[in-house]
Amino acid sequence: MSNKKLVSMEDIVSLCKRRGFIFQGSEIYGGLAGTWDFGPLGVALKRNIMDLWWKTFVEDREDMYGVDAAILMDQKVWQASGHTATFTDPLVECSNCHSRFRADHLEGDKCPTCGKTGTFSEAKQFNMMFQTNVGSVADENSISYLRPETAQGIFTNYKNVVDSFYPDLPFGIAQQGKAFRNEISPRDFVFRSREFEQMEIEYFIDPKDWEKLFDAWVKDIEKFLSDLGLPESSVHKLEVPKDDLAHYSKRTIDFEFDFPHKRDELLGLAYRTDFDLMNIQNASGKSMEYTVKGTSTKFVPHVIEPSFGVERAIMAVLVSAYTEDEVNGEKRTYLKLPAHLAPVKIAVSPLLKNKPELVTKAREVYDMLKKQHGAVMWDDNGNIGKRYRRQDEIGTPECVVIDFQTLEDDTVTVRDRDTTEQKRVNIIELPGQYR
Ligand code: GAP
Repeated sequence: MSNKKLVSMEDIVSLCKRRGFIFQGSEIYGGLAGTWDFGPLGVALKRNIMDLWWKTFVEDREDMYGVDAAILMDQKVWQASGHTATFTDPLVECSNCHSRFRADHLEGDKCPTCGKTGTFSEAKQFNMMFQTNVGSVADENSISYLRPETAQGIFTNYKNVVDSFYPDLPFGIAQQGKAFRNEISPRDFVFRSREFEQMEIEYFIDPKDWEKLFDAWVKDIEKFLSDLGLPESSVHKLEVPKDDLAHYSKRTIDFEFDFPHKRDELLGLAYRTDFDLMNIQNASGKSMEYTVKGTSTKFVPHVIEPSFGVERAIMAVLVSAYTEDEVNGEKRTYLKLPAHLAPVKIAVSPLLKNKPELVTKAREVYDMLKKQHGAVMWDDNGNIGKRYRRQDEIGTPECVVIDFQTLEDDTVTVRDRDTTEQKRVNIIELPGQYR
């Protein structure tokens, strides 16, 4: 029996550390809060998710253009977008222990650190952008920020893309990359980090079409979440009430997921109107108007923005895949990852590692599969049962074992992660198995 409901944060954090997915950033010096390092399997999983997103939303579509903008941008970008003035969270400090908290994350007036009540200061607005200086002179003019979202690197390249590609409306510009926010209290593993990765699209439209295009984006996002292996029952669409909408948004849907800490935001879909392009037009003095081909009709396009966070997607994928069952009376933990996301697609082992003839044959099979599939792991550590458990825990869909029968008839054992069933397959049929 699988047990999905009881996946705890501890289960996920401990698996990630034990098996080399995600480590605390700067762990060797005690850890830097809100930063995380991806280990060999974590980086593979992350790339698979990001590549699937890029393939789905950029490569497989005709209306999408990719960019990779600089992280450091002119401070005017953040003044025009409103981030310098308003990208803030409310900060309170406990007068007893001096711990600082995000006011809207507190329940009641008891300090979570020292337990005293009634010690919080008045809330102050704290700007979450990391400030730096560009160049050797540290003055007002050299101030820049690590970008708090990838979106502005898209908006500032809108005109470049229009001028060099003349796309028809609607069209989108997509970007993946790092974003930085000096969160007051980073928490819930990678869910709220200070350095994280986003995958964002600004989809430029004629405002008369916004409703039907917004609905189409809801469907495209749902399909992508299903391709990530997230069960429909764990994903919830929260229609942000009119009163809570950001001032530039006419409609926002938060896609929430049942994370171990609580149901919380996985990604957002917002109709941002012409807010950003108009800001840029006003601040730069350059026209952001789009001329409809073959006509004299000109207007500043409106924007629909699907905004994904990579770390939250990774957490949702791990929570969805994390499964416990019992095999031969023993508890087993495995990651039921979709094969296209698994960091390792196939593990290859000789049944016994002290038998040179088995090792040589297994190496031949490994080399053949590695050439074809890349993400193939050589695993001869411990006995075969231990290897299966380890591969199960990292989500490897199939293990290929070379044994004495292989030397006689060129067949190997292929063991399935989910069913634990084994079948014998001829070596020459192996590559086809994984096509
Ligand atoms: N351009 C719009 C924008 O950045 P957002 O709701 O602030 O909107 C979009 O962020 C997504 O980025 C979130 O839905 C989440 O997936 C991710 N994200 C935001 N802050 C994060 C943080 N501190 N740690 C990890 N992911 C975060």
